[in-house]
Amino acid sequence: MRVFALIGYPLTHSFSKKYFTEKFENEGIENSCYELLELPDYQNFPELIKAHSDLSGLNVTIPHKQNIIPFLDELDAASAERIGAVNTIKFLPDGKLKGYNTDYYGFRISLEKWLADLTIIPSTLKALVLGNGGAAKAVLATLKDLHIDHKIVSRQPGNHEDAISYDDLTADIIAEHLLIINTSPVGTYPKIEECPAIPYALVSQQHLLYDLVYNPAETLFLKKGKKQGAQTHNGLPMLQLQAEKAWEIWNS
Ligand SMILES: NC(=O)c1ccc[n+]([C@@H]2O[C@H](COP(=O)([O-])OP(=O)(O)OC[C@H]3O[C@@H](n4cnc5c(N)ncnc54)[C@H](OP(=O)(O)O)[C@@H]3O)[C@@H](O)[C@H]2O)c1
Repeated sequence: MRVFALIGYPLTHSFSKKYFTEKFENEGIENSCYELLELPDYQNFPELIKAHSDLSGLNVTIPHKQNIIPFLDELDAASAERIGAVNTIKFLPDGKLKGYNTDYYGFRISLEKWLADLTIIPSTLKALVLGNGGAAKAVLATLKDLHIDHKIVSRQPGNHEDAISYDDLTADIIAEHLLIINTSPVGTYPKIEECPAIPYALVSQQHLLYDLVYNPAETLFLKKGKKQGAQTHNGLPMLQLQAEKAWEIWNS
């Protein structure tokens, strides 16, 4: 039996277990299962690995995406090393552990596909990135790689040289930055009546609003953008793409 698992704490609402269990069933992938392994204290990671010698691959979630790094032997340079966070671990043939960040791939592939469908050349856009946490790091690396000029919009702009505050969002800045990406958890179920504090009345038909949140499928951020005529995109394709990328990494 090939055992894959998610480590993190708490693991009450896992998308990954449902996704991989259905994938194994639907695609007739035999002798494989996906488990949830709660890890309250990351310092116990080596013991967890020893206790589960049958593991074939791991996903990592909050709060361990960064603090797990010192326990790994290698990091994928293009994703985990650059971003400074790991959400996928591959067990190499020699027993070493290598960390990857598939959020980067999930966001990048979904954004490139969306823009291609809209026949928009990425480098012609400028972007605003709402929020400056772990998910924003994968988004910022993608924007850099696609040559999309960008600003971070943060409640604490002093923490980053490229950041501005929500109060700094003038008509000129909104008009100049046609891609607006929400990387904050604002609007996630059950607080679905909340949305990031941007001036929605300034959003136009030329704007593209991408929300990393996938529950609900249409957040208030996207609803308000759509009302202004903007194109919208939710976080579900990114979620599925990052899971498929993890599967590809484990099987490569
Ligand atoms: N679709 C996917 O595959 C995918 C993958 C990864 C993450 N996500 C989603 O992305 C979201 C962010 O994840 P994360 O790990 O980066 O979370 P996080 O670190 O908790 O939050 C990200 C940032 O959002 C801002 N923020 C947090 N609470 C806020 C509030 N009440 N009002 C305004 N801004 C707030 C903060 O930035 P400032 O303090 O700088 O304002 C924070 O650093 C989550 O909803 C997660 O589910 C989706």
